[in-house]
Amino acid sequence: MSGDNAINLETGDFLAVHGLSKTFRGKAGDVVAVDGVDFSARKGEVVVIVGPSGSGKTTLLYLVGSLENPDAGEIEVLGEDICASGADLIAYRRERVGFVFQFFNLVTALTALENVTLPMDLSAVPPEEQRRRAVDLLERMGIDRRLQRTRANKMSGGEKQRVAIARALANDPDIILADEPTGNLDTATGMTVVDILVKLAREDGKCVLIVTHDESILEVADQAFHMVDGKLNGR
Ligand SMILES: Nc1ncnc2c1ncn2[C@@H]1O[C@H](COP(=O)(O)OP(=O)(O)OP(=O)(O)O)[C@@H](O)[C@H]1O
Ligand SMILES: [Mg+2]
Repeated sequence: MSGDNAINLETGDFLAVHGLSKTFRGKAGDVVAVDGVDFSARKGEVVVIVGPSGSGKTTLLYLVGSLENPDAGEIEVLGEDICASGADLIAYRRERVGFVFQFFNLVTALTALENVTLPMDLSAVPPEEQRRRAVDLLERMGIDRRLQRTRANKMSGGEKQRVAIARALANDPDIILADEPTGNLDTATGMTVVDILVKLAREDGKCVLIVTHDESILEVADQAFHMVDGKLNGR
């Protein structure tokens, strides 16, 4: 994968998903979690997918982030199919996508600063620069010097989620994938987190994909979909 984040000039699409499907097979029967999903998004766009529990939102996000393999379909990032054999999925996961989760998924025994430098460990960036970059990202998220040195288990939910967003940005990804990012936050704190995600699209040109139960997030969407039984419906 190249680090170039120019737009696919033919379509203007940055991310395009075609016929994406995933079935989980089990003794109790098969579950079609994602069923022939198509959508595309441009650089700088916020895409919001709302659906009930079990509708396939997390599975779709994991497919796009290459944490799960699809049974069928294509995921094109700048015209390059990341599901094709030979695609560098390790580089894709590390450098092109950043994840934000409902339960934050920080390493609770590490400080905010350490959580943000962690994803840079495998990169060629020298340690001093990693630190500087992490401090910059945390300051942008409103995490001050004291909190930067505080362990994650001592932070409020809103603080943890802002640290988690800084961590997602550590390797300057093109795509931010957020799974129920406000699910464990009060309404006001949740709105702050949504505002941050929207700014990352509008000001930094990130492509932001949010999946959620929370219908109120639809307000900020450039593109909004409902997901039901693994299928996407535009609205
Ligand atoms: N690893 C797995 N193995 C088997 N079945 C799975 C697995 N992951 C998800 N499923 C099933 O796939 C369907 C979609 O699950 P998914 O987690 O994507 O839904 P969701 O929309 O994110 O739900 P929620 O809002 O509760 O988070 C569900 O029926 C779920 O039980
Ligand atoms: Mg889910």
